[in-house]
Amino acid sequence: MNIILLGPPGAGKGTQAKILVEERGMIQLSTGDMLREAKESDTEMGRRVAEVMARGELVTDEIVIGLIEEKLTGDNGGGLIFDGFPRTLAQADALGELLEKKGAALDAVIEMRVDDEALVARVSGRFTCGNCGAVYHDETRPTKVAGVCDVCGSHDLKRRADDNAESLKQRLMEYYKKTSPLLGYYYCKGNLTGVDGLSDIPVVAAQVKEVLDNL
Ligand code: AP5
Repeated sequence: MNIILLGPPGAGKGTQAKILVEERGMIQLSTGDMLREAKESDTEMGRRVAEVMARGELVTDEIVIGLIEEKLTGDNGGGLIFDGFPRTLAQADALGELLEKKGAALDAVIEMRVDDEALVARVSGRFTCGNCGAVYHDETRPTKVAGVCDVCGSHDLKRRADDNAESLKQRLMEYYKKTSPLLGYYYCKGNLTGVDGLSDIPVVAAQVKEVLDNL
């Protein structure tokens, strides 16, 4: 089963993807995580990616499609979760072609609906574990012990460089200009479903589960 989690920054895509990995053994393909890894590399590409991400703009289709293509080789186990990809119509077309080449299908596109005010609150309170990637929030999902990751016990908890008000405004602008047209694209292809991303995390997870169980 291959699915896309589609939604603006802070909608909860990463949070729900991690639940699906744990509960269903699916594989999370987050282009944001791949790009954060790439920007750490001491290369010209890494430096360019870092600048674009800090501004809250989209990295080029060519780079992002290349990263996804590399991951689509071999056995994809319990299915793939595309988290943060595709984000443009060109990326959506490329994904369709890559899956077709593999003889695989896209089973569902789940839109996570959240209003803009909630996104600001979520992104500004977010922190993640640098070791295992677990996602937390100062108010809605704090760690049980302050400064220690619940999942792996690491003390390496950090905030993202692009989680600031200015960059978030630009990320939202990019979403509405370039990514939201994908809702119409997938609606016409017949595989778009929506969930109420404003509900509590377990409630959203139950809605996602229901979508997948009904496929
Ligand atoms: P990326 O890393 O993909 O960021 P994003 O899409 O902006 O999404 P986020 O990771 O910010 O949010 P999320 O929806 O995963 O929410 P989360 O679960 O963390 O991309 C970063 C950058 O990389 C882009 O700006 C771009 O430059 C580049 N990039 C990436 N992909 C690209 C592509 N395909 N093409 C071009 N460029 C690309 O949750 C957020 C917070 O809310 C957390 O604290 C969480 O605990 C909390 N929370 C989650 N769910 C709930 C809930 N239901 N109730 C209350 N709190 C909740």
